Amino acid sequence: MQILVLGSGGREHALVWKLAKSPLVTKLYVAPGNGGTALERVENVPLKVDDLDGLVRFAQEKAIDLVIPGPELPLTLGICDAMAKAGIACFGPDKYAAQLEGSKAFAKKVMQRASVPTAACQVVSSLEQAYAAIDKIGAPLVVKADGLAAGKGVVVCQTLAEAHAQAEAMLGQHAFGHAGDVLVLEEFLQGEEVSLLCFCDGKRAVALPSAQDHKAAFDNDQGPNTGGMGAYSPAPILPMEDGQKVAQLTVQPVLDVLAGDGHPFVGILYAGLMMTSDGPKVLEYNVRFGDPECQPLLMRLESDLLQAMLDCVHGTIRPESLVFRPETALGVVIAAKGYPGSYARDLPITGLESLQQQDLVKVFHSGTRCGQDGQIVSSGGRILCVTALGSDLLEAQTRAYQAVRKLSVPQSFYRTDIGNKGVRRLNQA
Ligand code: AMP
Ligand code: GLY
Repeated sequence: MQILVLGSGGREHALVWKLAKSPLVTKLYVAPGNGGTALERVENVPLKVDDLDGLVRFAQEKAIDLVIPGPELPLTLGICDAMAKAGIACFGPDKYAAQLEGSKAFAKKVMQRASVPTAACQVVSSLEQAYAAIDKIGAPLVVKADGLAAGKGVVVCQTLAEAHAQAEAMLGQHAFGHAGDVLVLEEFLQGEEVSLLCFCDGKRAVALPSAQDHKAAFDNDQGPNTGGMGAYSPAPILPMEDGQKVAQLTVQPVLDVLAGDGHPFVGILYAGLMMTSDGPKVLEYNVRFGDPECQPLLMRLESDLLQAMLDCVHGTIRPESLVFRPETALGVVIAAKGYPGSYARDLPITGLESLQQQDLVKVFHSGTRCGQDGQIVSSGGRILCVTALGSDLLEAQTRAYQAVRKLSVPQSFYRTDIGNKGVRRLNQA
């Protein structure tokens, strides 16, 4: 089969790396891809993920059998609807269902209709309404821009004054453009966060093992929020035996509501959960694999990724479709200094060859490109995700950091505590 993956991050490198192992795949394309995907059995295609017409034309020309969108943008723009019109299958939700990620107000509404546990909230579209809702909810509380805001549209506010100021910035000053025309104001939930991703075939959700992301830029969850500085799987806070049960509570009811709306959800539905003293509550949905959660998850996946995706598209996913290695996988992101703010590009990366032949370590590229001289240089804020398998969390962590130290990227940084929350939890047990 001929496959087209969309995107250019570490997630997409992991997707094509795993897909390339499938005997079902005859040809793999990635648009636009990165310096790492170019090193796999994959062809990089210079098309942007938001160029829906160009992507449909390309998929028709090359007789693509399945399109796999990596990031949310093409999904929220309606890539699956556009491909469906052209008779091409897509592993992802349609534009309506992708609003679960594209609009926080839509997601909250669906959660309420599906009786999914989540924070109490109010949806507002004027400053007057916002101030009244903020005073009613009380501090601490969370102010969220409705639309996509590059991961920056959510602010946890410790005081009412701070929440008023954030509402004013988003609604009054349009800090996030139209993404902030509507706000979701919600109660603050206490607990540890965990990611639960499910393969969905429109009717059923099959849970993957849990994963934990590290969103803050610096150690001990300090500094600004990023796309994710590292992840590992499984996360001890959500053991394997509980995953499907939690999916029945937090994901399955959403599939039922969307199917009732005439928009069955196909693809990955990712629930960002807060594990509270009242049980798991949904913070948000993503309609795609997480980056960097995808990297450790796919390193653990033993069974054929393409077959599982086809099962979703054909409405035949079963828990047996997915087999995972029992080991732990852990990925550490190396980012350019200054990320998630401004940072230098074209930083040369050395040491990659020393890690090439290792079965238990894989360096996934995020923002990289291959220069004319063959030198891999950085082209984005997150540069690499160095991922390792270990018999337990501590071994995976040690192996990943040993590999990180074999690489050299000037003007870069990484967190030194990826996985520590899980290690602490295991030590307490
Ligand atoms: P979201 O994009 O909605 O997941 O929000 C981004 C981050 O903000 C989450 O990963 C949490 O760390 C935090 N957050 C969001 N909603 C809440 C909440 N209701 N209570 C506490 N923290 C939250
Ligand atoms: N790592 C979080 C995300 O992909 O949204």
